[in-house]
Amino acid sequence: MDRVRLGVLGAGNIAAMNVRGYLEDPRCDVVAVCDTDEEIGRQAVKEWHAQTYYADLSDMLADDSIDAVEVLTPTHLHHDHVIAALEAGKHVSVQKPVANSVEDALEMQAVAERTGMTLRISECFVHYPPLELAKRLVADGAIGKPTSLRIRTLVGQTDSPFQAALRPEGYGWRLDKRSPGGHLFDDMVHKYAMALWLLDLDITSVQAVVRRRDLFFEPCAVIFEYEDPEVLGMMEVQYSPSFYMRSKYYGADEFFEITGDEGQIWVTRATGELLDLAPVMLFTGTPHERKTTEFTDIDADWGTGFVRSSQHFVDALLHGTAAAMTAAEATDVLRLCFGVYQAAQLGTAVDPRTVTGTVSPPGWGEW
Ligand SMILES: NC(=O)c1ccc[n+]([C@@H]2O[C@H](COP(=O)([O-])OP(=O)(O)OC[C@H]3O[C@@H](n4cnc5c(N)ncnc54)[C@H](O)[C@@H]3O)[C@@H](O)[C@H]2O)c1
Repeated sequence: MDRVRLGVLGAGNIAAMNVRGYLEDPRCDVVAVCDTDEEIGRQAVKEWHAQTYYADLSDMLADDSIDAVEVLTPTHLHHDHVIAALEAGKHVSVQKPVANSVEDALEMQAVAERTGMTLRISECFVHYPPLELAKRLVADGAIGKPTSLRIRTLVGQTDSPFQAALRPEGYGWRLDKRSPGGHLFDDMVHKYAMALWLLDLDITSVQAVVRRRDLFFEPCAVIFEYEDPEVLGMMEVQYSPSFYMRSKYYGADEFFEITGDEGQIWVTRATGELLDLAPVMLFTGTPHERKTTEFTDIDADWGTGFVRSSQHFVDALLHGTAAAMTAAEATDVLRLCFGVYQAAQLGTAVDPRTVTGTVSPPGWGEW
């Protein structure tokens, strides 16, 4: 294959963010769009200069000119859509969360292995430059031996044009029984991915307190124990519904703090732009020198993670390299998320690696 001919399945709220990377990549042609909503689908064909609109997935999959499919449909449809595309001989990139149950995710992986097609899960945080830099600094020993990871999510409001343009219909499937955990199940999957990816260590135990709020059920506070007993992780979600935050995207922001025995790294932003700080900061100190390094010359636009994620998929297909995230990695992320819900329900520590099925936070569905 010397270029990728791509079909896009689902042209809803997040599609433009994902497709931008393909449109900007000279090695890729966006040739078709499939969406059951004809107006949305045809509008996307026009905007992306694609050739064909399909109302039905099976018709798009019968198109032999398409090599790969970008799956951007609601999460509860990922299992069926991904398997149909793989069985039709297409390579697949699918948005996080990979699926709504561990078994569905494992089946998707098994079909990819049997058919020999590439299946990758698009996780934009893995391709966000400040987080990539932080991971590289840790791996290069910039803070010595890691001892702790802290991830904080602050959810508020914003008046960004992006947020104002979101269609409310795109939120229905997140907030009812088609989702195991609502709005922040959808969002927090990014942070569970970071808890595993930044330190490249397995998590062996989670403890959690989950509170119900008007918008969502999520961990207010989680403690992770890693396979290395000297490393601990903490995750918090804070909700300030009347707090308007600076953001080009959603009214939310994330903060990451990685501590080692020789220093500390901060990633001071992701989705939003709350703080007036360098996107990445490194603090080190010896008896002779206390040093703060500010990494300002770095693309910290959250949208860049989407662009790079799409281009990474093209790279993987053209060069036959592994595409991040793999289905196995994304299934571990799902297990961690469900492990947190299970720990909150049981009031005891849970090994996320043992989690099966689908788990919801305490009280989910009682409305
Ligand atoms: N990386 C991120 O930060 C991020 C952000 C938002 C959403 N997402 C993920 O992207 C996916 C899509 O989210 P969204 O917000 O764009 O949802 P959405 O509901 O706005 O869009 C989904 C689109 O799929 C279409 N569709 C539904 N069923 C279909 C079918 N059977 N065949 C063809 N088209 C169909 C709908 O008409 C709609 O246009 C979800 O998995 C979500 O979790 C990721």
